[in-house]
Amino acid sequence: MSRIAYVNGRYIRHADAAVHIEDRGYQFGDGIYEVITVINGKLYDCDGHMARLTRSLAEISLDNPLTEDVLMLVMTRLVRMNALKHGTIYLQITRGVARRDHKFPANAKSAIVMTVKHMRLAGRQHEAGVKAIIVDDLRWARRDIKTIQLLPNCLAKQAAAEQGAYEAIMVMPDGSVSEGSSSNVWILTHDNQLVTRPASHDILNGITRQSIEKIAKKRQISVEFRTFDTAEMLAAKEVFVTSATSLATAITQIDEHMIADGKVGEIAHALRADYLASPQ
Ligand SMILES: Cc1ncc(COP(=O)(O)O)c(C=O)c1O
Repeated sequence: MSRIAYVNGRYIRHADAAVHIEDRGYQFGDGIYEVITVINGKLYDCDGHMARLTRSLAEISLDNPLTEDVLMLVMTRLVRMNALKHGTIYLQITRGVARRDHKFPANAKSAIVMTVKHMRLAGRQHEAGVKAIIVDDLRWARRDIKTIQLLPNCLAKQAAAEQGAYEAIMVMPDGSVSEGSSSNVWILTHDNQLVTRPASHDILNGITRQSIEKIAKKRQISVEFRTFDTAEMLAAKEVFVTSATSLATAITQIDEHMIADGKVGEIAHALRADYLASPQ
């Protein structure tokens, strides 16, 4: 069955879906995106993703061409049309088509595209844990906006792939860990406290991490929002990353260092299981 995409009001065969070469997303990376996970045909964390989409759009003065209700309808329809059991929905809004000029065009109409990706649930659970590498964070100063400009993230992920790793964990010039190239980073200290970086302009405030925080609290595990450096991370009892694509995935090795005994930690495992079992 061929995949179906949504492009500016039309449902089109994925292979035929296209946008104009002067779309500002293509020319300048002038756009915002969201990725929403689908498990057993159910969209996870929709309210959070819609709220962050609205915020990101407002931060770059970009209009949403659809209301939230219509967005939800389109996403639900795409899940049905694509018989999407497990996977993700990718949603992108750009400033539309205009003659190339850096400043915002006077009358451009924002463009919207949605695509789906099928994924095996087992493949996303990473039962055995995964390896990460440490890289410098080369990004701009507004990482809280989910912009489609992802070149530093792509370079980091490529470096990870070249070293047989799943994720690249990025470190700021002050030595603090910011986040993964496409995920938020958590550590569990030896006194069983979960630590993750506070939301600020330095990181993307993950929607999955907000759900994981709630789940941790239900399990009466305390969550501390503070920065940590690579030495603290490497010495942690557990390290894991969260994102709509990786859910909660244990990091068992960073560069050449094993995290604890090199096995998936109990807390990362439990949080992932709870997240899968209770769609937010
Ligand atoms: C840089 C970055 N940080 C964090 C995340 C996690 O965000 P979410 O949990 O909303 O998927 C992502 C997801 O793509 C990301 O790209």
